[in-house]
Amino acid sequence: MKNTVKTFQQQKDEHKKITMLTAYDYSTAKIMDKAGINGILIGDSLGMVMLGYEDTLSVTMEDMIHHTKAVARGAKEALIVADMPFMSYQTSIYDAVYNAGRLIKEGRAQAVKLEGGASVCPQIKAIVDASIPVMAHIGLTPQSVNAFGGFKVQGKSEETAKRILEEAKQVEKAGAFAVVLECVPEKLAELITKSINIPTIGIGAGPNCDGQILVYQDMLDMYGDFKPKFVKQFAHVGAEMEKGIKEYIKETQDNVFPSQEHVFKIDDEVIKKLY
Ligand code: KIV
Ligand code: NA
Repeated sequence: MKNTVKTFQQQKDEHKKITMLTAYDYSTAKIMDKAGINGILIGDSLGMVMLGYEDTLSVTMEDMIHHTKAVARGAKEALIVADMPFMSYQTSIYDAVYNAGRLIKEGRAQAVKLEGGASVCPQIKAIVDASIPVMAHIGLTPQSVNAFGGFKVQGKSEETAKRILEEAKQVEKAGAFAVVLECVPEKLAELITKSINIPTIGIGAGPNCDGQILVYQDMLDMYGDFKPKFVKQFAHVGAEMEKGIKEYIKETQDNVFPSQEHVFKIDDEVIKKLY
């Protein structure tokens, strides 16, 4: 069944958890779709896990469109959400609507995600007014890494917790269909989830959100750089890949691969004439 923004809302209302993962390419999106994931995010985390940058700030609209196209071709049932990269929406309402439009028209996403609270509510409203569903993202917003002074848990003090709760209400009012809560205390995420009507999608926000999202390289243990506390490794795909690659190298060196089952034949009479 095709997942839409309506099915996300329905799942919150029916207390049925929403599952999301990131993906950046056709083959991975296809596997996730087959597994039955509700939504796929083409995250700007692609800057880190696919392109090897230290943060998400260098990711461009062209990068996002390129990867969104690939995912959209691979996933038929999952809701496709594309991240708006740094400086594609902060600069003006015009830029926000224009760039959200590109992710839909060229990338074939079905919704966009952007980071921030009150300061981006005019952008959220304008994009929604253009009939493009918006997923909001509050708490730890990685595009603000320089303002935060690093990647840290947000909302531990009364003042910051109150601000994040307010932001959740503001993005809902601006028209967001869902909101990502990243790296906030579980009790705060629980309170936000009870206080708003749209679904909350948690990452490092505890079990009481309406849904969960993880970066797939993190949850499949194929990104060696670091492991955040909130990540659970559900499989060790990196080690499995290394094993397969080592076997390929060894069999090639030992002349075991390719064997007879992998080769094409030519008639003996034909090849004889060439000698
Ligand atoms: O870019 C990303 O992968 C994200 C998720 C972690 C929510 O924004
Ligand atoms: Na992101």
